[in-house]
Amino acid sequence: MNLESLLHDRLEPALEAVAGHPVDPAVRASPHADFQSGAALALARELGRPPREIAADVAAKADLTGIAEVAVSGPGFLNLTVTDDLIGRALRAAAADARLGVAPAAEPERIVVDYSSPNAAKEMHVGHLRSTIIGDALARTLEWLGHDVIRVNHLGDWGTPFGMLVEHLIDLGGDGGGDHSIGDLTTFYQAARAKFDTDDGFRTRARLRVVALQSGDPLSQQLWRKLVAQSQRYLLDSYARLGVTLGPDDFAGESRYQDDLAGIVTGLGEKGLLAESDGALCVFPAGFTGRDGAPLPLIVRKADGGFGYAATDLAALRHRVGKLGADRLFYVVGAPQRIHFQMVFAVAREAGWLPDEVTAEHIGFGSILGADGKMLKTRAGGTIRLAGLLDEAVARASAPAIGIGAIKYADLSGDRRGDYVFDWDRMLASTGNTGPYLQYAYARIRSLFRRAGSGPGPVTVTEPAERALAFALLGFEPAVRAAAGLAQPHRLAGYLHDLAVAFSAFYERCPVLRAGSEVRASRLGLADLTARTLHTGMSLLGIEALDEI
Ligand code: ARG
Repeated sequence: MNLESLLHDRLEPALEAVAGHPVDPAVRASPHADFQSGAALALARELGRPPREIAADVAAKADLTGIAEVAVSGPGFLNLTVTDDLIGRALRAAAADARLGVAPAAEPERIVVDYSSPNAAKEMHVGHLRSTIIGDALARTLEWLGHDVIRVNHLGDWGTPFGMLVEHLIDLGGDGGGDHSIGDLTTFYQAARAKFDTDDGFRTRARLRVVALQSGDPLSQQLWRKLVAQSQRYLLDSYARLGVTLGPDDFAGESRYQDDLAGIVTGLGEKGLLAESDGALCVFPAGFTGRDGAPLPLIVRKADGGFGYAATDLAALRHRVGKLGADRLFYVVGAPQRIHFQMVFAVAREAGWLPDEVTAEHIGFGSILGADGKMLKTRAGGTIRLAGLLDEAVARASAPAIGIGAIKYADLSGDRRGDYVFDWDRMLASTGNTGPYLQYAYARIRSLFRRAGSGPGPVTVTEPAERALAFALLGFEPAVRAAAGLAQPHRLAGYLHDLAVAFSAFYERCPVLRAGSEVRASRLGLADLTARTLHTGMSLLGIEALDEI
């Protein structure tokens, strides 16, 4: 049970009686009482009455069971103080429920979450790290809320770089009968790239190889498959190290949609949406203009006849809605691709592939910056490799789960739309809004139970620090719903941090093991509920909770 919604239900009929129509009581936690409603203020103009009078009227008409005190305050707020008994009951109900009182979604939706989605045959870099971490937290949270989540890893496994890579593989292995060993992917990619940049003959062969690959040449296809498979193995290793829930079945790379691209062009043509521009086939969706005011094109087929990133995204979108039956589409991709997605969504709507009742959202995020405020790079100015980053996290932390948790939490604890500075010392600190702080808070409670030798009992609250912790505990549901509904994991992260802080204040002021038996059992009950809430919340963020550190 969540007290905001309980108070909401108490005030709603009274407000309706006073206003003559349904009114949102807008109950919020408040520093002046336990909760506050500002609904009377919003009604003053309409009813032509002073807000304080309206508030008093509502208070008089409301069912006040479980409410210790109602006071009209300031310009017309209703301050609500709940009884200790009501708080105790809410906590006991949460404790008795494996879901901590959070009901699963009444109307589950099928939600496709496109995340991680790196480019195959290249090492995953830190930009993909953000998508992977944020997308995974989102997928876990939505799933826990009862939605039917389909994870999609839109792997960049197609396109011109593969001509170069396959050709390089052939060079290494002779005529196709050879060993064709790829070895380390990054080294392999860099070697191919260096040849492509300096060797005209190789460049020509690479271009021809793209054509061969795309027209189904068996050797080219076989080697391409080998490259993609190797890349997938490498990615799955990284996901396992990171504790990310993406598995082998979640790969749905760009290559999957190649057979659908011609149909995308025909479909757009039939709807009269295509226009030619410098030999390319484009759609100019309504409402998109460049800096010069000219309409912006979404290029569907390039002048050379090849299909690009946008065409593939249109085909993928049509598949997700038409075949997978999605109600919602999430794309967890960096902020620079905002316009791309807005245009893809707009074109898909115009084409009728994205019906009104299906929502599509670009879940954008900022960059990871170095201490110099610029994009995170190695000292030599190169891109940071994910594997090296994870190695360093593990080496710097007291346990692998702490190092990995620190990286993930640093990414999730700030508003995703902003950039953040990658700072080892800050993210690994055991105090402050960090992953280790949560992990230590959790482990400390587990250790309390090892010393207690007895389990939690029924919770009752009386002390102010108990009440404060109780309110923090009861804030779990709104935090999870906000994190999921707004696709803002930092709401949950911030909540968990506040909860850990409230627990530590409680623990300082209220002796647990030394208290008399009933109080001791109740306080252990609060500790247990705190541990369970931390554990559940951390698992929704993909952060491991350790019993002992
Ligand atoms: N592979 C792309 C990149 O690295 C991201 C793909 C995101 N997903 C999508 N459906 N476009 O930039």
